Amino acid sequence: MDLIKLDASTIRTFEHLMFRWQRPFLDQWVDSGNLVAYGGLEFFGAPFALGLAIRSSDGRSGWIQSIFVSSEFRNQGIGSALLERLGADLHAHGCRNLTALYRAGQSSTRIFEHMLCKRNWDDPMPHSCVCYLTRNGYLRILKSPWMQRNVLGATMRIVPWHEIGDDALADLRRRQEQHPFVDDSVWPSSDNLNNLDPSTSLALLKGDELIGWMLNKRLSPGLLYYTALFADARYRNRGVGLQLLAESIHRHYALEGHLPTLSAIWEFYGDNLAMMRVNRRRLAPFVDTFTENRKATKTIG
Ligand SMILES: CC(C)(COP(=O)(O)OP(=O)(O)OC[C@H]1O[C@@H](n2cnc3c(N)ncnc32)[C@H](O)[C@@H]1OP(=O)(O)O)[C@@H](O)C(=O)NCCC(=O)NCCS
Repeated sequence: MDLIKLDASTIRTFEHLMFRWQRPFLDQWVDSGNLVAYGGLEFFGAPFALGLAIRSSDGRSGWIQSIFVSSEFRNQGIGSALLERLGADLHAHGCRNLTALYRAGQSSTRIFEHMLCKRNWDDPMPHSCVCYLTRNGYLRILKSPWMQRNVLGATMRIVPWHEIGDDALADLRRRQEQHPFVDDSVWPSSDNLNNLDPSTSLALLKGDELIGWMLNKRLSPGLLYYTALFADARYRNRGVGLQLLAESIHRHYALEGHLPTLSAIWEFYGDNLAMMRVNRRRLAPFVDTFTENRKATKTIG
């Protein structure tokens, strides 16, 4: 069976072979012009395998996003062929650093790691944790005491993200340029603002100064991806970050609490100690699924 290179029009018929959480990002990846994809078609033309990668905007790095082979076609060398085809394509386009991000603890994890090891990828490292909160978890979280607290006082207020003015954003950019204080992963970059859910994405203001935010993407009806939660270090440890999260959850419930699909996903990195603490103390008791993401890299000459 041959693998074919997919483009913006042909990739749509392979969408069901992407991981569910990745599907909402497909338009963004296609529009970026940096998507590299190969697919496998059965004899009668039905898609059964898909390999996806993204080139960085400077073209130096490539990210393997997913490799999927339908179960009846596994163990015939197709996953390996997809990995090699993606690697060769990225290399031909100038990528010298390859990265693969994937979930640990799945039935395919050992197989995928075997494929990487055989092709001289570096040993995988822990990368991030992904938490999944279902409707059941939401209903329980709504009753927790921290969801009812108000710690903002007279000078702080939470407003919808889209209500903040250009001046507040310009001021934030100026402060970041002078003394970087917001990590790239939570900065309101075009990536983080793309596909933003307007009803639950919030800004925290002190007077007119933007001192925090909670940005969410909508993945599908009922399902939010909590993309970025940030509170300025000057105001940490007094519950304002948690209140942003609580307000966002209240708004989500008010809007979609009737849907059986009410749910949320978020991800945090091992070096983000503040988020690890919030997660452990406030969220972990309600989380339904908790998976570890691993990262493997390879440098090609
Ligand atoms: C991972 C996946 C893509 C592999 O596809 P595949 O077509 O079966 O892979 P291949 O046939 O090319 O290679 C399988 C290799 O794993 C080996 N393998 C099979 N079972 C294994 C196991 N339990 N432990 C370790 N290695 C195993 C095979 O022997 C083969 O190795 P070899 O090339 O040295 O003989 C497929 O299982 C899949 O789609 N899983 C779900 C999606 C996923 O998790 N993707 C990976 C993260 S993005």
